[in-house]
Amino acid sequence: MPSPTSTPAWRGLQTHRADIGLPDIKAWFGEQPNRAREFSLAAAGIFLDYAKQPVTDRTMELLCDLAHQMEVARWIERMFSGEKINFTEDRAVLHVALRNRADRPIVLDGVDVMANVNRVLDQMGRFCGAVRDGDWRGHTGEKITDVVNIGIGGSDLGPVMACAALKPFGHGRLRTHFVSNVDSTHLAETLALLNPGRTLFIVCSKTFTTQETLCNAHTARRWLIDQLGSADAVAKHFVAVSTNAKEVAAFGIDTANMFEFWDWVGGRYSLWSAAGLSVALLIGMDDFRQMLEGAHEMDEHFRTAPAEKNLPMILALLGIWQRNFLSAESQAILPYSQALARFPAYLQQLEMESNGKRVDRDSKAVNYATAPIIWGEPGTNGQHAFYQLIHQGTSIVPADFIFALESEYPLGDHQSKLLANCLAQTEALLCGKDAQQVEQELRNAGMPAAQIEALLPHRIFPGNRPTSTLIMQRLDPKTLGALVAAYEHKVFVQGIIWNINSFDQWGVELGKQLASRILAELETAAPAASHDGSTQLGIAKVKEFLNRRP
Ligand code: F6P
Repeated sequence: MPSPTSTPAWRGLQTHRADIGLPDIKAWFGEQPNRAREFSLAAAGIFLDYAKQPVTDRTMELLCDLAHQMEVARWIERMFSGEKINFTEDRAVLHVALRNRADRPIVLDGVDVMANVNRVLDQMGRFCGAVRDGDWRGHTGEKITDVVNIGIGGSDLGPVMACAALKPFGHGRLRTHFVSNVDSTHLAETLALLNPGRTLFIVCSKTFTTQETLCNAHTARRWLIDQLGSADAVAKHFVAVSTNAKEVAAFGIDTANMFEFWDWVGGRYSLWSAAGLSVALLIGMDDFRQMLEGAHEMDEHFRTAPAEKNLPMILALLGIWQRNFLSAESQAILPYSQALARFPAYLQQLEMESNGKRVDRDSKAVNYATAPIIWGEPGTNGQHAFYQLIHQGTSIVPADFIFALESEYPLGDHQSKLLANCLAQTEALLCGKDAQQVEQELRNAGMPAAQIEALLPHRIFPGNRPTSTLIMQRLDPKTLGALVAAYEHKVFVQGIIWNINSFDQWGVELGKQLASRILAELETAAPAASHDGSTQLGIAKVKEFLNRRP
């Protein structure tokens, strides 16, 4: 593939960027009465308004040209048809098969993967039905009330995010808990809430070799056996989600209680697989299938809509414009929805683990920026914490504002206040407040001229700060599926345009290797060798502490 910088569209965008100068989005609204209509679209129950972004018709035309010149459409077909586009791991990228509700055959190595996908969905359905109906009993004959997912990264963030988002759709008897951190605080504080006889642990790990997950799972297993007085209890209280049957059996979980997925499902794309078992237990299999349905609807839109009317494509192209032509270092995700509190953290892994890469698909170092830093918190909380920087700081932070019109808990005027705040923030970021307005306000408030002069610069809002707004009627399983799929495809398109492999994560390996080595050193008396001085000092301090322990 060519480098994106060598395409005519990229050069066109550079010239266009120079021509635009400092984008005056607010003024463009004055010049284009239809701007809001022109720069908005809807797909699969998600409405996207990007009129407050620093784009003109020409910008969008050139960005679509870039997508065309980087052959995004051909890559979409390659992904959907099961080609091994994750070439550094020689794997297909088929999370879309997990939600292929049309059951279109997807052939990988001569076999239609849909038979396996449907088999595991049926297995999940039977299991969830039994647990939810109270037919699956624990070792002491009690019904399950608490489900604990033990996993990390992609085996945690998606399920955590979705269970929080869909709690109002949950089974009345079931509570979900998530233990990811190897810091014992996470497990200890969770176990303290649980009755062992009513608890089901899901050990969720694609590889079943992840240190943190296995450590937590072994400790939880010991706790259960101690509490219930028999190793036989494990069979009724532990199930596994993995691609690795051998390691699951070695851990001591009967593979009859294992829910399989496959190497062509990336960890951070695994919410739709059996890795979503905690979600399916909470909301039931019918609603889990609704989530798949929503994602499938977005997939179909993504595969078939032309670039300029394609919602994930537009999200991706806006990101490219911001990152590569307007030098944005970060991107804020600001859900005005407490239910989506963990959505920014979920997107951090999705975007930063996928596209935080510095070498292209031709194994050459890139000379352009790739993924921005993704961060965010729900509104309105963020307003009282970090919005100051977004309004008046020296960095431009493009932000996605996300909300549902309906609240699952309609209490008084909470929802109108929430949404008024969201709309007000995007308006404030766009329009700002100029010197004249501030001066007038202060004069009206009776402030003396000398004080006005001193305060004026502090109270000016420059405006023209870019935002997109995504609106759903209601945050339900289907729209959540569509929303997540939209961001997945955004990441895909950006990876293709940046000419990188979005589906490996070699960058997480070095830390894992060194941690194993340091752990071995901490556990022996021999002095640690060949570390930098700072690490050596840290190791010495920890060893000294460990040796002093009784
Ligand atoms: O360390 C990163 C990572 O490999 C992620 O990509 C993955 O989601 C996570 O660890 C957990 O891996 P597993 O599901 O194999 O335990």
